[in-house]
Amino acid sequence: MQDNLTKWNWKSNPFVLTIDPKLFTGYEEQVKAMMNHIENKHKVALLTGNTGSGKTSMLKWLEYNIRENVFYVSKPPQNPDMFVDIALDAFPLTFWEKILKKKPNLHNLPKYINNKLKGNHLVFLLDEAHETNKDVLEWLRVTVDQIDNVSLTMAGLPVLEEMLKEKLETLDQRITNRITLTSLTRDDTRDLIRKRIESVGGSGTIPFTEDAIDKIYHRTGGFPREVLKHCDKLISRVDKKVIDASDVDGLREFTPQNVRVDEPVVYFSPKPPSMDQIKSLPYKQRKIVELLSNENWVTPSLIIEKLDFKSYKTKGHAIRSTNNILHRLMLDGFVQRESRGKTFMYSLTPKVKTMFVEA
Ligand SMILES: Nc1ncnc2c1ncn2[C@@H]1O[C@H](COP(=O)(O)OP(=O)(O)O)[C@@H](O)[C@H]1O
Ligand SMILES: [Mg+2]
Repeated sequence: MQDNLTKWNWKSNPFVLTIDPKLFTGYEEQVKAMMNHIENKHKVALLTGNTGSGKTSMLKWLEYNIRENVFYVSKPPQNPDMFVDIALDAFPLTFWEKILKKKPNLHNLPKYINNKLKGNHLVFLLDEAHETNKDVLEWLRVTVDQIDNVSLTMAGLPVLEEMLKEKLETLDQRITNRITLTSLTRDDTRDLIRKRIESVGGSGTIPFTEDAIDKIYHRTGGFPREVLKHCDKLISRVDKKVIDASDVDGLREFTPQNVRVDEPVVYFSPKPPSMDQIKSLPYKQRKIVELLSNENWVTPSLIIEKLDFKSYKTKGHAIRSTNNILHRLMLDGFVQRESRGKTFMYSLTPKVKTMFVEA
């Protein structure tokens, strides 16, 4: 390994799984949606994605770029009382407050924070939010209601969505933005690799050839953690100066992992679909994609209503079959879904949508 580092003039291994906001890449739409949430001072956003999709990276990027009145919590505390200490870290007591023993308790904490904020906007970022217990959720709900000017972002695994709906409907109702991290594009994958290499003193994407990067992208679907792991394996196992596509093929025993963690949905496709692929889809799949290209978010029942396929015996058959087709389309990267209330809504993935706009 050490040899490899000197071979390319690297100060250290660029592919360790660390988080540095300066190396954040891609996810343009999601970044825009997050910034929009914050600039508009919306109350609650959910940021979901599988382990390694980049949630913590995104929050750290926001923290780094906002800088003022931003408050990142890496894990929800077990007990709401701990928010007092967290808040005191962010907004310490003044000399006089100490003398007068004005340390806040949980009950008057919103008031204390409002005083400290003096009308300024507070950005509250909570990571690993799927681990939040009901007491803490209750407290978060009270907090977003009582702090004048706060935007909360809760980041967690996809189960967070269901978990909130079940545990605390009243907080769920305050969610205005639901943002999902899936995977990077081919160009962003290249950029991620390049930034990492340059950050340790290397040059461009050396030692990877463009073909090698293509292969890495296809094998990882652009899933950030997997990209880094592939690169790490390659630089430590390949004993050459240049790494090309055949070396990526050579990583046989290292099959790409199914990134699903605890939801039966894999949110990335191995390859971004092409217009030709859309044209050669089976009839019903193609009809659904075409319908979605003219809509924003739709429910399966609206799809059934609009398409009116005659071949189904009963409504139940139609629903099951449509859900299966949507699932297939989702696995192949044509379609994405979000849960809204008690139902799921579907739309084309941004990439496929753009293809229709361009066509
Ligand atoms: N958009 C991104 N740009 C650059 N690196 C990323 C990005 N997303 C994830 N990574 C890298 O992938 C790894 C996993 O990301 P992380 O933010 O820890 O994911 P999560 O919090 O969703 O589990 C980290 O090493 C991180 O640096
Ligand atoms: Mg994380």
